[in-house]
Amino acid sequence: MSEDFGELVGPLDPAMIVVTTAARDERAGCLVGFHAQCSIDPPRYVVWLSKANHTYRVVLHAGHFAVHLLTEDDADVAEHFGTQSGDDVDKFAGIDWDAGPDGVPLLRRLPHRLVLRKHTVLDDGSDHLCLVGVPVAVQGAGSFPPLRLSSVVHLDAGHRAEERPVPATERRADG
Ligand SMILES: Cc1cc2nc3c(=O)[nH]c(=O)nc-3n(C[C@H](O)[C@H](O)[C@H](O)COP(=O)(O)O)c2cc1C
Repeated sequence: MSEDFGELVGPLDPAMIVVTTAARDERAGCLVGFHAQCSIDPPRYVVWLSKANHTYRVVLHAGHFAVHLLTEDDADVAEHFGTQSGDDVDKFAGIDWDAGPDGVPLLRRLPHRLVLRKHTVLDDGSDHLCLVGVPVAVQGAGSFPPLRLSSVVHLDAGHRAEERPVPATERRADG
């Protein structure tokens, strides 16, 4: 069953994004493949964050988050945000960023982006949290070749979904 599921949805080959957020003077961000526009009027965008991730634990307390769209030239940024965890390193050290609403980090290297106010959070009991946002800024509109899952699927995620602590809101036991 799960093999069939992966085989069926794999060819959809989604475009990749980096989601960033901030709360209580803590910044976070990770590579995300689960995301979509989910309403036209009013405009809404949805991302799904793994409960294993540092970014998940920070966004629970955040008012805003940003969705940065990756281009084919951004594979190094995907690796930076997708293979390390904010539980272990400061991913924003040495990176140029500007503070958006509530301090959400806006990455200068990734100008195609949405800044979103957190609207709805749905925890359906699965390993990812559904996060719906209302765009408060839309920057860098225009076409570009997106970085697709097939180009980064070989990366080892900083946290695998099954690593989530129980309850998922807790820090890692050694973190
Ligand atoms: C190809 C790929 C796709 C990923 N997709 C998602 C995703 O849709 N949602 C998510 O929360 N994490 C996803 N991840 C995992 C995180 O980007 C990764 O575990 C990251 O290191 C977590 O960082 P953090 O602990 O600092 O939040 C993906 C990782 C890779 C390599």
